Amino acid sequence: MDIKHGIKIIGTGSYTPETVVKNSDFSEYMDTDDEWIYSRTGIKERRFNTGKTNFFMAGEAAKRALDSAGAKPEEIDMIIVSTASPDFFYPSAACLVQNIIGAKNAAALDVSAACAGFIYALDVARNYLFAGKYKKIMVIASEFLSRQFDFYDRTVSVLFGDGAGCVIIGGSRRPYASVLGAAGEGCSDMKLFCKANYGMNVPFAKTADKEEQDPYIRMNGKDVYKFAVDIMPKAVKEVCPQAGFALSDVDLLIPHQANIRIINSAMKDLGIPAEKVFLNIEKRGNISSACIPVCLDELNRAGKLRDGARICAVAFGAGFTYGAAAFEL
Ligand code: UT7
Repeated sequence: MDIKHGIKIIGTGSYTPETVVKNSDFSEYMDTDDEWIYSRTGIKERRFNTGKTNFFMAGEAAKRALDSAGAKPEEIDMIIVSTASPDFFYPSAACLVQNIIGAKNAAALDVSAACAGFIYALDVARNYLFAGKYKKIMVIASEFLSRQFDFYDRTVSVLFGDGAGCVIIGGSRRPYASVLGAAGEGCSDMKLFCKANYGMNVPFAKTADKEEQDPYIRMNGKDVYKFAVDIMPKAVKEVCPQAGFALSDVDLLIPHQANIRIINSAMKDLGIPAEKVFLNIEKRGNISSACIPVCLDELNRAGKLRDGARICAVAFGAGFTYGAAAFEL
């Protein structure tokens, strides 16, 4: 594919809930503390959604992106939502957003690739733009992970936060490349998962069929960590040359905000200096697939998405999935 069929960011928006939960709030009811959480993860606080739906957050991010783009909802040709924490199996989150914002001309679909979902969704959008069918696509990632917590599981509940980010993109003649992948062995002994909960209210089921339905996120943190420190720099090293630039040409690296130690290890491997790496993990925690679009919106509102900037975004997630996108604005 021609690397000169790139993307143009027309608008960005994000929504993070009002409720701020600090590390010390967890110490009030379980054996953990700020020192452990901050030194092992880089997280000080995160936002938790209390009382709203996931699609409400996605809709707010979408409205803010429309404002930033100066675009009308009817101009949107397609809405793609990445989420690992939807409100419904169906309708899709994208349809729910389409209805809220009144994007009556938009096709709507969801993407499921866990924390790497935004990179996957961006790539789907870019390919539709490249095919010439659509002009403006809204790419959203929205996560309500706190509702999947066992709040007493200190190995998970301190890591994640809630929120949504949205970018509206169009096509451009600037460079763009992506690397997407999956290492399905991440499922073989369930290193990071959250079961679909069907309730098992089945009158005909035998006792064995009614086995415990654990509805919470469960994770083998060490195995996820090992996968991440290996794949993040590999994916960046692969994608940048495909977009036609050297690692030293990258102006902004936007990594999945999972753990500051994973990010530092990747930066060291890549030789990318800290001032080029965007971080919001300290205040937001890991918002799964919403990390990268929320970062993009924060960067945009700070005036840092300048024309010609070379961006590389990289993420990994359950599955395991991974993805990196390198593009020039
Ligand atoms: O989007 C992708 C999502 N997931 C990830 O990115 C996770 C990747 N993995 C990680 O970030 C790290 O593995 C963790 C932050 C989850 C854990 O850090 P670690 O340095 O790998 O710690 P550990 O699992 O080796 O645990 C060390 C100790 C254990 O106690 P013992 O067995 O040494 O007595 C844990 O039980 O720390 C304990 N521990 C805690 N202590 C206080 C685990 N969680 C906590 C906690 N507070 N919240």
